[in-house]
Amino acid sequence: MSPSSGLSPPQVPMELHANNREKLLRSLRQRLAESSRRLHGFVLLQGGEEQTRYDTDHIELFRQESYFAYLFGVKEPGFYGAIDISTGKSILFAPRLPAEYAVWLGKIKPLTYLKENYMVSIVYFVDEIARVLQDHYQSSGKPLLFLLHGLNTDSNKFSKPAEFEGLDEFEIDLETLHPILTECRVIKSELEIALIQYANDISSEAHVEVMRNTKVGMKEYQLESMFLHHSYMYGGCRHCSYTCICATGDNSAVLHYGHAAAPNDRTLEDGDMALLDMGAEYHFYGSDITCSFPVNGKFSSDQSLIYNAVLDAHNDVIAAMKPGVSWVDMHKLAEKVILESLKRGGILIGDVDDMMTKRLGAVFMPHGLGHFLGIDTHDPGGYLKGMQRQKEPGLKSLRTCRELEERMVITVEPGCYFIDALLLPAMNSSETSKFFNQGVIKRFQGFGGVRIESDMLVTADGCKNMTNCPREIHEIEAVMSGAPWPLKNTSTNVGNSLNIKELI
Ligand code: GLY
Ligand code: MN
Ligand code: MN
Repeated sequence: MSPSSGLSPPQVPMELHANNREKLLRSLRQRLAESSRRLHGFVLLQGGEEQTRYDTDHIELFRQESYFAYLFGVKEPGFYGAIDISTGKSILFAPRLPAEYAVWLGKIKPLTYLKENYMVSIVYFVDEIARVLQDHYQSSGKPLLFLLHGLNTDSNKFSKPAEFEGLDEFEIDLETLHPILTECRVIKSELEIALIQYANDISSEAHVEVMRNTKVGMKEYQLESMFLHHSYMYGGCRHCSYTCICATGDNSAVLHYGHAAAPNDRTLEDGDMALLDMGAEYHFYGSDITCSFPVNGKFSSDQSLIYNAVLDAHNDVIAAMKPGVSWVDMHKLAEKVILESLKRGGILIGDVDDMMTKRLGAVFMPHGLGHFLGIDTHDPGGYLKGMQRQKEPGLKSLRTCRELEERMVITVEPGCYFIDALLLPAMNSSETSKFFNQGVIKRFQGFGGVRIESDMLVTADGCKNMTNCPREIHEIEAVMSGAPWPLKNTSTNVGNSLNIKELI
């Protein structure tokens, strides 16, 4: 495998997290002032804990809890972090590590080091939380703590508010913080955008390496392995944003293939499509990229038909994106473009608006068009308070129904899949059977699916594609037969205008 084109892992300035704290303070103070509340108390978050399995002392590689990472950038487990709402001071609480730690896990970092490294006002030990917060509290009465408690609209689970010895001595607010902090994460800063761009740059490059080295006869996990190697070896990305989906043949119709029960272990056959959904993470910020291509390097006419249907949807959505545009409308646009292509290709028959009314688009694209991306692959904030998920097929899978705003980062990931569990009922239903050209569609059973996924930054008057992978059929075929990427003498879909090194 050839080395990287010159990317190197950037130093991450801790101002990124100091700025995030400032942003939270501004929003929180404004909200308190609007409701005529006193500006006092502390935001308190508990960071993630290292996990061991119950039957062994083996420790899983720790990855920080996302809200805590956003505010403090702390890599280690077992921390708490507080922000004094009146003074703006930031306080970290580090675990008091046993002397044994130095034998097995390395030197114990002094509190002064942690203070400098994480750019906070002061650092204490976790067992001092209650005393320190009481001492720092400058108003009368029980000190007030704003704890993180709120619903994640994707997982439908609630975040766990901080717990510590002595919590009963504080007044608790569980309502205010979560929506405000979530909203801070939705709109990205320059430094956050630069990190997401870096994760995209190295992941795009790794996708190209995989595309170039894919051969009939390989195993799916070898494609995964090439991606992991490139993004770690050349990009310093130890974590991925999510488990790699390396699906070929019929597996590419399994939306979240690659899990433990379907572990990317099929052998690639001549004539297969590959659907590779893989994204690296760097300093907590991620990427989420899907490339689809024929494993033998040459598109058949059926593969071209489905691929171009999805590519047109991807490109038409990107061309329509700008602040104020509704994401539900973008989802429907993608569905419509795909249905029109399937009709042109002779797979579907009839009126496309009629198909839209019958929600036929969701038979071919059952997932949502895209989601916010940041510290989490499915970044939170997709539904504002009071917004309801739609109930209809396809639309109910949308992870956001919001209008686009400048500096949101959102994936555009239309797909077209031939999933028996959806297709067969639709082909046999009295409502929708008339739309299927039964003779032609049979040819596509077992085809699998195509997804094309790019990460978009919403700008003042449009959007910028942060992903840079071959997308046109001629680009993919050229790269798979050894051409450099970007192709010589053609413009590509990315401008590397945001470079973290320039921002430090
Ligand atoms: N890779 C998961 C997703 O595309 O949402
Ligand atoms: Mn995605
Ligand atoms: Mn994805």
